[in-house]
Amino acid sequence: DCPPRVFSGIQPTGIPHIGNYVGAIRNWVDLQHKFDSILLCVVDLHSITVPQDPKELRQSIFDMAACLIACGIDPEKSILFQQSTVLQHAELAWVLGCQCTLPRLEHLPQWKEKSQKCKEPGLGLFTYPVLQAADILLYKATDVPVGEDQIHHIELTRHLARSFNRKYSLVFPHCKATIGDVAKIRSLRNPEAKMSKSEADPLSRIELNDTPDKIAEKIKKAITDCSSEVTYEPENRPGVANLIDIHMAFSGEFAETICEDAYLKAMDTGMFKTRVTEVVVETLKPISDTILRLQQDKGYLEKVLKNGQQQAEVIAEQTMREVREGLGL
Ligand code: ADP
Ligand code: NA
Repeated sequence: DCPPRVFSGIQPTGIPHIGNYVGAIRNWVDLQHKFDSILLCVVDLHSITVPQDPKELRQSIFDMAACLIACGIDPEKSILFQQSTVLQHAELAWVLGCQCTLPRLEHLPQWKEKSQKCKEPGLGLFTYPVLQAADILLYKATDVPVGEDQIHHIELTRHLARSFNRKYSLVFPHCKATIGDVAKIRSLRNPEAKMSKSEADPLSRIELNDTPDKIAEKIKKAITDCSSEVTYEPENRPGVANLIDIHMAFSGEFAETICEDAYLKAMDTGMFKTRVTEVVVETLKPISDTILRLQQDKGYLEKVLKNGQQQAEVIAEQTMREVREGLGL
């Protein structure tokens, strides 16, 4: 009986890249036309599970808000807010943590992967999927757009919701992950891997506020292979396939169409790179102009986040009242 509601979060880690845009942000923009209720959360409490520079973190929170708005997130349609300003996230995370066993968290693939990379992983890194469950359940979200790597965390969310509902009182609805069938954008420098903020080489990713010159340079230096033909072979020729995927994501044309295109058939990878640059620049130019304008209008960004906080708080507090009552607190 819970109305459809979307919740999604993104960590404030600098300016997003085109993988984040194509794989997540653009999908949220579309969802604004399909759902009446959408919450988009800049999940700063998730960021601090690993060390952060306070000044950079604060800047990144504003940058992420600016980027989301520049990409088409409309603060009139979506509740855009900063996680740590709604105190109920931490409160519900504690409650859910008390319902969660250690093996349940130890078995999560992301924990295994992340804790190995970390010299002394903290408790927050271990329990952050519980915080993620709290983020979703606090708003009784029904639809959670996530990347494939988050599927286990949505299963954990459902498990925690069910066990709370069973033990205490029926508070939480069923939520489902919605995974868009978008192509993964690969690293420009290492096309075996996905494009990621965590790759050291800045040439490996195109950020949403890159200038046209910078975009051209990065695409020009993108690793392909020794053949200069333009063919779509993701397995054998991931670098070239990635350029086609990027072209497809930004122009809307399918890979088959691109490869059938007589005009393109006559192209070598060098010429194709120029064409890819054109379609990427065409989409990103208005976005990066808007990012720059919004970065200079901190008052506006503060107002949007404050407004989002107030709207999110109303829903969060209502849920927490039910949770506290159910628990006997
Ligand atoms: P990163 O790897 O750059 O840190 P995140 O893990 O923070 O990115 O992902 C944020 C969102 O962007 C997720 O929904 C994720 O699925 C999506 N995403 C990240 N990288 C890519 C990519 N290379 N291609 C498509 N989507 C991506
Ligand atoms: Na990541």
